[in-house]
Amino acid sequence: MKAAIISLGSKSSVMTAEAMQKYFDSVDMIQLKQIEVCLGKDASILYEGKELGNYDCIYVKGSYRYANLLCSLASMLEGKIAYMPFFANAFTTVHNKLLTHLVLQQHKIPMPRTYITSTIAAAKDLLKRVNYPVVMKFPEGTQGKGVMFADSYGSASSLLDALGVLNQPFIIQEYVETGGADIRAFVVGDKVIAAMRRKAHTHEKRANIHAGGVGQSVQLGREVMKLAVTTARALGADICGVDILESPLGPLVIEANISPGLQGLSKVSTVDIPDEIAKFLFFKTQEKVEERKKLGAVQVMKELDMDPEATQDIVSTLQFRGEKIVLPEIANRIARFTETKEYVITAKKGQLEIKEMK
Ligand SMILES: Nc1ncnc2c1ncn2[C@@H]1O[C@H](COP(=O)(O)OP(=O)(O)O)[C@@H](O)[C@H]1O
Ligand SMILES: [Mg+2]
Repeated sequence: MKAAIISLGSKSSVMTAEAMQKYFDSVDMIQLKQIEVCLGKDASILYEGKELGNYDCIYVKGSYRYANLLCSLASMLEGKIAYMPFFANAFTTVHNKLLTHLVLQQHKIPMPRTYITSTIAAAKDLLKRVNYPVVMKFPEGTQGKGVMFADSYGSASSLLDALGVLNQPFIIQEYVETGGADIRAFVVGDKVIAAMRRKAHTHEKRANIHAGGVGQSVQLGREVMKLAVTTARALGADICGVDILESPLGPLVIEANISPGLQGLSKVSTVDIPDEIAKFLFFKTQEKVEERKKLGAVQVMKELDMDPEATQDIVSTLQFRGEKIVLPEIANRIARFTETKEYVITAKKGQLEIKEMK
């Protein structure tokens, strides 16, 4: 089976590609920046100006800056290749915190109370009625860089004015007191394969490693693990990092990441994360390839049922049991030979024909 990773070529992507080489027949590293999607008549995906090759599995990764390209690419690939670990719309949803929260809401997944308002004035009005501190976030920020905290109406109001001048969209969120810690749960398939508790730097409120946070291995409880897996499912992602705040009233999801860095988590976990991802991708692809073969056979049967005179060429290698040949299952499903009838076998060098005796 052939696989490819389409990514920005980060260390994490290289680690995953190397692990995938142990399972797949070939693994191509494809640079996302060299991808071009063309829609309309003769729609195509170009890589370095040429049609993208055929693969059984493609793992598409990239940051929120490439959300449009990622989504277009995945949408074009959907249904064409045997397996991709994300639904195309996951690239738009997950790369936007507001859209993520809307999906979480639809699936009744617990999250901090989050507010969306029409104007700066409406937001200021709302900020007169909330408890402090309060959090404001860019829907498309990462690494903690679009997350702001305000301890009072005064600081919240001044932040809002700055956001307004910059025309920067924002969401307002209840501050959840966790002592500056959050949980990163790494979901692969229907399991959390590794997790860490990140603790914010002394002078910080954000637990991101990029903001100086420090990760520690953690054994998650059942409830948190289930929440992480449900979140990944809801967002249409088979491989996903889920950020969770452990509030006194239970775990709350704050965001998900479909292009999560592996280095921070690998440092604190004994699990070989790239290998777990590679293994999962391989077995899932194998399962989907088999499913497709079966579906293809059913389709062929349907077509032949409609036209009893129709013939079908089956291109296959031959399986031998000693000197005897075992024919592919589909061959007899089409020919419908039975043990009770007699057959004429005509054999010559390079050719074999089996016919029902009339
Ligand atoms: N509602 C909140 N209450 C308390 N802390 C929060 C809240 N939201 C985010 N944080 C802190 O800020 C960090 C970054 O927030 P997050 O929503 O995950 O954005 P990013 O995409 O930038 O990582 C979190 O890891 C957490 O430590
Ligand atoms: Mg985060």
